[in-house]
Amino acid sequence: MSTQGRYTITAALPYTNGPIHIGHLAGVYVPADIYSRYLRITGNDVAFICGSDEHGAAIPMRAKKEGVSPQVIIDKYHAIIKKSFEDFGISFNNYSRTSAPIHHQTASEFFKKMYEDGKFIEETSAQLFDPEAEQFLADRFVTGTCPKCGNEEAYGDQCENCGSSLNATDLIDPKSTISGAKPVLKETKHWFLPLDQYEDFLREWVLKGHKKDWKTNVYGQIKSWVDDGLRPRAVTRDLDWGIPVPVEGAEGKVLYVWFDAPIGYISSTKEWAKQEGKDWEPYWKDKDTKLVHFIGKDNIVFHCIIFPSMLKAEGSYVLPENVPANEFLNLEGNKLSTSKNWAVWLHEYLEEFPDKQDVLRYVLTANAPETKDNDFTWKDYQARNNNELVAIFGNFINRVVVLTHKYYDGVVPTPASLSEIDEQTLKELKAYPAVISSSIERYRFREASQELMNVARLGNKYLADEEPWKLIKTDEERTKTVMYVALQIAAALATLSEPFLPFTSNKLKNILAISSAGIDTPWNEVATKEILLPAGHQIEKGELLFSKVEDDQIQKQLDKLEATKKMNQAENKTVEPQKDTTTFEDFTKLDMRIGTIVEAEKMPKAKKLLVLKVDTGINTRTIVSGIAEHFTPEEIVGKKVTVLVNLAPRKLRGVESEGMILMTENAEGKIVFLNPDEEGVNPGATVN
Ligand code: MF3
Ligand code: ZN
Repeated sequence: MSTQGRYTITAALPYTNGPIHIGHLAGVYVPADIYSRYLRITGNDVAFICGSDEHGAAIPMRAKKEGVSPQVIIDKYHAIIKKSFEDFGISFNNYSRTSAPIHHQTASEFFKKMYEDGKFIEETSAQLFDPEAEQFLADRFVTGTCPKCGNEEAYGDQCENCGSSLNATDLIDPKSTISGAKPVLKETKHWFLPLDQYEDFLREWVLKGHKKDWKTNVYGQIKSWVDDGLRPRAVTRDLDWGIPVPVEGAEGKVLYVWFDAPIGYISSTKEWAKQEGKDWEPYWKDKDTKLVHFIGKDNIVFHCIIFPSMLKAEGSYVLPENVPANEFLNLEGNKLSTSKNWAVWLHEYLEEFPDKQDVLRYVLTANAPETKDNDFTWKDYQARNNNELVAIFGNFINRVVVLTHKYYDGVVPTPASLSEIDEQTLKELKAYPAVISSSIERYRFREASQELMNVARLGNKYLADEEPWKLIKTDEERTKTVMYVALQIAAALATLSEPFLPFTSNKLKNILAISSAGIDTPWNEVATKEILLPAGHQIEKGELLFSKVEDDQIQKQLDKLEATKKMNQAENKTVEPQKDTTTFEDFTKLDMRIGTIVEAEKMPKAKKLLVLKVDTGINTRTIVSGIAEHFTPEEIVGKKVTVLVNLAPRKLRGVESEGMILMTENAEGKIVFLNPDEEGVNPGATVN
């Protein structure tokens, strides 16, 4: 087979502060694997690259919590992650780690080259410093109010409510997430990548060059970042965990984790090439190489703005051809969370369902969060397995194999002349490779997986219409032809299922004795090769491809999640310490009234805010409340609430808010109106 093109395919490097869960799989690793497998079997030269992301401040923080060294944490999770990917059939050409010497060297050289070429701005400025933890604060180590939208939980690098890119010093009322302390300002020197100088390049490259075929969610985010105006971004940090900044006068400073991690794709490629005795450079520097980054939506800015600007600044690298970022997957209606243990962990799944890798791959693909967030439920998992994999795909193969053995001792029969229905069926079959290819090449893996299932549906329909089990009694010759045609469909499925269901494809090739006989049909020939499984070929008895998932297995998983929920609720009972004593006089200054919500609507472009009209008895006034993630406008109209009516008015997103509605939180962390009898509102819950 001739090589058609060279692809460097990267999957986001997972942080080694926890294992892999289904959200990572659905968002990044399963689609990246389907794409890589597909390109390999269609004759391309593929480097599918990944590794562990082991720097950044989250690692030492987790280490501190567990009372061990950061090295212990990264070694533990690197091992778990690497093994679970292997067992799950993610076909990386290389899985490296950013603590590897080759990465330290590659990232240092990258920085040095940019430094020597004068690509950085060097600046001493006042940065936030935690006086208690004696540490500078940036990124996720500081929260505060977003200056753009008023979200009180914005991070030091980004506001997740309005998507603005922030510097830690932009935050209003900043607070250290390490100690809770109020940061002070302290001078420190850092190196900045002047992103503002890359605006024209980014506009030209993405917004003009790629807008037609990039996903709209990706294109939209890039456009809004660029339109907002880009600012210089620090690429170094005051931290003791990471890659030392390789220039003089930078003692005690390390490269920003988001500077070093994407370079990890390059180091991992180098490590692989060395093992394979290949040259790594064409995979990153040949202009014909297609570089594709698979990531989740929270990584878009880093892969579409910052890393491309770095590659451009360095000067010798290709830029990504596409960045097909996915949205998020939820689990049983709630956000996946490593810290809350709200997840289906891959390594645990593989222990509990040791031969069901393909089932999870299929469910995560068929329900992939490609254009919007999606929900994984165990009921859906069971239904997709039982009603699709078992009842359609498995059932078709099973009927073909069993009947071939029953009638012909497992030998593919010689067909008589094909009927019109046979011809039509084979014609339909031969249209599928192009259809599935086109979906995969446009990153529509969901759609592709359904087209694959349609091939099995075609086979089932053919058997149901022709009924060889009846025909055998009246027309043995015609039965041979029917079974021959059905066997061709089975052989096509063995090839076409490989990117999606690699374990199944392999099993099926064994059952059909395709590999042993050396008659494997390459993807590109399924449509054109006349005979996929020749008459006279002996097939094996074989095993069932899929088995039913029973109710009790599903119940066990649901029970496990229920237990997690209970545990989180118990942990949430930690009661905030009492505030300083106040006087009766001060208390009487607060004017609280009962009010009725008479109107409610969403604040445009703000995820958390609702704009309410509240009848306070005094007047009907506007109150902006941060409850949009907990209530829909419809469900709260008419509700009676407690209102602090003499709070000084303040503007949120340009809307003046006159008062505050008193809320509390239940044990699940849901914000609820002040009603002490509400389920899950426990003693100690604060009112605010
Ligand atoms: N570790 C990051 C995350 O999980 C992804 C890093 S991707 C890379 O969000 F490009 F930096 F490698
Ligand atoms: Zn904001």
